[in-house]
Amino acid sequence: MPENPPPEGALPGPQDAIREVPLSRRTLVKAGLGLAGTAYFAGILYPVYRYLAAPAERASAAAAVTEVDLPEAVKLPAGSALIFKFGVKPALLIHHADDTWVAFSAVCTHLGCTVQFMKDKQHIYCACHGGTYDMKTGKNTGGPPPRPLDQFKVEVTDAKVVVKRA
Ligand code: FES
Repeated sequence: MPENPPPEGALPGPQDAIREVPLSRRTLVKAGLGLAGTAYFAGILYPVYRYLAAPAERASAAAAVTEVDLPEAVKLPAGSALIFKFGVKPALLIHHADDTWVAFSAVCTHLGCTVQFMKDKQHIYCACHGGTYDMKTGKNTGGPPPRPLDQFKVEVTDAKVVVKRA
């Protein structure tokens, strides 16, 4: 079938843009090796990226959490405490003997160990270096901690305890 030459000065049509490009075996092998190399390096670099990005992702996940529902905590007896997760960090909920509730970050303000409620000594204690905090206010009262524990708001209903970022 004879082809008509395009008129002089005409732009190439779509049929001119699609041309068969002969693929040689070498071209196919190169493309295959390129894909395999890309997949290989992606397989190596992705875990490294995940490892390096994890602290930043955890920090943003922790910052995104503004409140935690604790349905089981309504059964917490007066004069006792529980450790729970607020985002990715530990927190401490205390139900005092006078039926008041308080919640603090359980991360020691000295070097970040997890603190615990010491019912017998009536304070919050950090076993790492002997830091102590007031059990009602979270104020640092002894040892190396430089500042009080971060405090949360606590709302108690019949169904649950809600701890909120202050
Ligand atoms: S980390 Fe708590 S007292 Fe040092």
